Amino acid sequence: MLETWASSGVDLHLDRAGPRVRASLEGQLREAVRSGRLAPGLRLPSSRSLAADLGVARNTVVDAYGQLVAEGWLVARQGSVTRVAGRAPEAEATPAQTGAARRLRYDLRPGSPDVAAFPRSRWLAAARRALNSAPADAFGDAPDARGRPELHRALAGYLGRARGVRVSPDRIVVCSGFTQGLGLICQALRGRGATTLAIEAYGLPDLRGIAAGHGLRIRTLPVDQAGAVLDGPGAAGAPEPGPEPGAAGGLGAAGRLGGADAALLTPAHQFPLGGVLAPGRRTQALEWATRTGGLLIEDDYDGEFRYDRQPVGAMQALAPEHVIYAGTASKSLAPGLRLGWLVVPTHLVDEIAAAKALTDRYSSSFDQLTLAEFITSGAYDRQVRRARLAYRRRRDHLVAAIRQHVPQVRVTGVAAGLHALLELPAGVDEDEVIARAAARHDLALDGLRRYGPPPSTAAPGPNRPALVIGYATPPEHAFTGAVARLMAVLTDARRGQG
Ligand SMILES: Cc1ncc(COP(=O)(O)O)c(C=O)c1O
Repeated sequence: MLETWASSGVDLHLDRAGPRVRASLEGQLREAVRSGRLAPGLRLPSSRSLAADLGVARNTVVDAYGQLVAEGWLVARQGSVTRVAGRAPEAEATPAQTGAARRLRYDLRPGSPDVAAFPRSRWLAAARRALNSAPADAFGDAPDARGRPELHRALAGYLGRARGVRVSPDRIVVCSGFTQGLGLICQALRGRGATTLAIEAYGLPDLRGIAAGHGLRIRTLPVDQAGAVLDGPGAAGAPEPGPEPGAAGGLGAAGRLGGADAALLTPAHQFPLGGVLAPGRRTQALEWATRTGGLLIEDDYDGEFRYDRQPVGAMQALAPEHVIYAGTASKSLAPGLRLGWLVVPTHLVDEIAAAKALTDRYSSSFDQLTLAEFITSGAYDRQVRRARLAYRRRRDHLVAAIRQHVPQVRVTGVAAGLHALLELPAGVDEDEVIARAAARHDLALDGLRRYGPPPSTAAPGPNRPALVIGYATPPEHAFTGAVARLMAVLTDARRGQG
């Protein structure tokens, strides 16, 4: 029997014939969303009224809605209405799209911690305590673009203790993640007349874009397993392969940093290759900065996570007036918090604070107070310890699975952080592997090329295809399934190649 249900502007034609009423209802709703007959955002009838209208049990409709919410066709908020999702899962995907564009069930792309493990109740408790004890001026307009003094004090204690940073509270500028932090630094540098920022050839593409967007010229530094390669020809010379990894020695005429005003490095854990900046290269960078007045920017995005070796202390401690140390809560807690911090040389504090004031005045006082309380109560340390244990287990599981199933795949960069580099056999096409993982295994992957230099930049780096695996990304319950799918993808890739 064909029923028409019309209300709130919705006109639903649903056939409730047949014994499998729920499956039929699900199928028809799915098809209606897929075809666009039910538009994104459309409010659906309540389960009670649709059930009454169709003459079926209410639970049948509740179950059907629940299933379609789980599949991503519908969205429901607790105590609120059910709507058609912003975009239908399949409508999003075109054959040319890979897992990066389509919401896939399993996700091993890098860049995120396990956000399902965000310590909600502990964060809420910290927020409650922080708000209960906050002075009245915390609710007013903040006079200081650098941030709340409570957070400055908490961060100064934590960074000195846990990362060896040389820091006093008045040198900290709180920002909306490192993404904003780099923008503030670029603004301040431009204000001083700087023109050129050296950036590692492999890195987060957004960071390169931010610097360019602020009018800085980009100098690309080659990278290998020992971090950025600093010696070699300067700006005018043709690029050439770097020295032996970790080779020490001076930079001659400032090497590849010659003519740069600042250099952005990931010394504790190169992103995405995963190496630690070799001691000789650290020395070179610091010598360059102190000799020329150049500025080093130390992106310590995942410094809390190290597994097999002594922690690598912050480079900033060796030359605090020449290095900006940058940290973020995006890996230790969640990127959605948008909380980061810069520890700035004294001579730059006012300029960075002025840039912050011009950008968005200051970061949310409430979030800052909560983070301050979270740190001082010890919850931050406990969270990092818990996460470190969980990610270490995941890393060990991933490495063991690779050894067992695809031993020819080389894994590197796993001593620290939340991602690993998996080198694929030469000749395997990264994009094909990623597309196959999405289409056949419902698994989202990222290739190394996405993090590489623009094609026009002749900067040597790894010239083999590779995957950058973010093993912290999936929720705990999906992790082993994601790794099993990855093994299937890698086994296919080997066969395809052979
Ligand atoms: C290399 C690198 N730096 C910094 C960040 C953190 O950026 P934000 O603090 O803006 O979230 C990330 C996050 O993905 C990253 O991969």
